[in-house]
Amino acid sequence: MNDVLELQTDWRRRFEADPSRFVWRELQPAMDRSREAVGEFVGADPVSLAPVLNATTGIASVLQSFAPLLRPGDQLLTTAHDYNAVRQILRFTGERTGADVVVARVPFPIESPDQVTEAVLDAVTPKTKLAVIDHVTSPTALVFPIQDIVAALEPDIAVVVDGAHGPGQVPLTIDDLGSSWYTGNLHKWVCAPKGAAFLHSRADRIEMTVPAVISHGYNAEVEAPKDRYHALFDWLGTDDFSAWAVVPDALRLVGGLEAGGWDAVMKRNHDLVLYGRHLISETVATPLPAPDGMVGSMASVVLPDATGPDPGGELSPIMDDLFDAGFSTIVMNWPRWPHQLLRISAHLHNTADDYSALAAMLRT
Ligand SMILES: Cc1ncc(COP(=O)(O)O)c(C=O)c1O
Repeated sequence: MNDVLELQTDWRRRFEADPSRFVWRELQPAMDRSREAVGEFVGADPVSLAPVLNATTGIASVLQSFAPLLRPGDQLLTTAHDYNAVRQILRFTGERTGADVVVARVPFPIESPDQVTEAVLDAVTPKTKLAVIDHVTSPTALVFPIQDIVAALEPDIAVVVDGAHGPGQVPLTIDDLGSSWYTGNLHKWVCAPKGAAFLHSRADRIEMTVPAVISHGYNAEVEAPKDRYHALFDWLGTDDFSAWAVVPDALRLVGGLEAGGWDAVMKRNHDLVLYGRHLISETVATPLPAPDGMVGSMASVVLPDATGPDPGGELSPIMDDLFDAGFSTIVMNWPRWPHQLLRISAHLHNTADDYSALAAMLRT
């Protein structure tokens, strides 16, 4: 990670040393080089990829692009496991267009991925126009069966896959998925710096897809819709482009830390988090809430219910104790107080000892 940050600093130095020259000469080749590298990593034609600041911006861009197609009474579908910021983008879009937000009640604990698909399909009506489906959910850390869901909904219902936690945690071949859009963070599991994320638009969606911020690209003289798409997303105004520029290095350096490359990185992390969740579930004496096959490199563990009055907020007060003890993990009041859901993660810096230490802390 430090190597990636140093390389990012080099990019910043080059930009600051001569901004005009950098923008005119170096920026576009750097953007295109990163687009190629990301395309190879996520199994996508680079043409379909646009840089975005983060997954939130990716989803906001899609909803901004889709809003003109919505009529009062149309429905925007999400699930009960979604991420709060994304839910708010849907609510905001609904308030502006008259569309309603419908929440599919995906169960938790859960026994099989089919229950996700069933819950989503149960919530579909003739008015459903767009669905946001997480690839890996945030509070519950479940890998959703996006392939099945996309196959069931598209092309009648536009699917946006929220892959905030996808790239680097689960293998991807986005071009084969067939969703209208997929947005993914590179600043999480790929260990690129903050500000590196992408939006993938299916070929027939490229022309209608605009960023949440409109800039020069809108009236750029272009030969094809894909050129306007890139012009719009590549330049949203003067910004620090170094996070996106350094993505190929992050992919190479982190993937190079295991002999088998990224597949081996993901497998190692997956195996380690399975070990961790078994250990912690045993320690706190709660059953595993999901099968191993629905786990990527994050896992949730149900903690015993809290006691006392609801302190409010999404995060459990236990987090203070965990932070003070040096753990970087998350406990949510999910779905609401007094229920407590611990989320653990495994990446290359983690070892089995980390989960033993966490289990020991939770025991007390
Ligand atoms: C499922 C999900 N969607 C969206 C986001 C938002 O990601 P970002 O803050 O990078 O925009 C997150 C962040 O953790 C997430 O877990």
